Amino acid sequence: MSLVNAKLMMKDAYKKKYAIPHININNLEWAKTVLLAAQEMKSPLILATSEGAVKYMGGYKTVYGMVSGLMEDLKITIPVALHLDHGSFDACVKAIKSGYTSVMYDGSHETFKVNYNNTKKLTKLALVNGVSVEAEVGTIGGEEDGIVGNGDIANPDEAKKMSSLGIDMLAAGIGNIHGPYPESWKSLNFEALQQISAKAKIGLVLHGGSGIPKEQIQKAISLGISKINVNTELQQSNAKAIWAYVESGEAKKGKNFDPRKLYAPGTAAMRETVIEKIKEFGSENRA
Ligand code: 13P
Repeated sequence: MSLVNAKLMMKDAYKKKYAIPHININNLEWAKTVLLAAQEMKSPLILATSEGAVKYMGGYKTVYGMVSGLMEDLKITIPVALHLDHGSFDACVKAIKSGYTSVMYDGSHETFKVNYNNTKKLTKLALVNGVSVEAEVGTIGGEEDGIVGNGDIANPDEAKKMSSLGIDMLAAGIGNIHGPYPESWKSLNFEALQQISAKAKIGLVLHGGSGIPKEQIQKAISLGISKINVNTELQQSNAKAIWAYVESGEAKKGKNFDPRKLYAPGTAAMRETVIEKIKEFGSENRA
């Protein structure tokens, strides 16, 4: 199946109260593992790359070619959107021109006026190209690939104004953080989520989806979160499995220097993490 945009999957998730897994990828092993795990679970999927990950893998055309090739060769039949995560204005344009089917414009570091006007321009360009759009209000705390945020709670009126542009999904700061949550972190701000959701009336996006307790994830979904972004947890499960393989001494035996053998424990661990997330998000059998 060819890549699709995220419009229909987001509408269905919003209506039926589950969340689409948005999984950030870093290389071929990541992309292949995530696609196969989502296919196994019959879950719709958003495969995402930050600008940093695109640069690491070679560029937009390389990522597009790799993901669309995998879709065909692996006979993937679930709906998959290829999404640019936290893109600048120019990066969103580049991604759209390179075949990405979904983009997030992150104007959260601009004034609301600039953020709104740039989102408006990109929404027009995306519409012409059949691409879905995510915008952001408030900021996500922590650091994601060099982008640092304070964690400002989103203003519900700004959320309403932004969603009226005809965007498909809206990321809102609700006390969520990119990367591991510190010990002192207690909870998402559900009161803010409720107020934002009531005004935005479209599927909201929970960034920083790694390490949030399951009960909070499910409460957030019941209050309007329809897409959850996960990056750190896959990086952690991959690294942990490879470290264990190396520390056990197995990696040094025979021909286990072969990358296909050396990386295998990491990909097996990532598969399990994706399956666990899909079950938690309620997106199993929704494809
Ligand atoms: P984590 O790295 O905390 O899972 O967040 C991912 C994310 O929000 C990508 O946009």
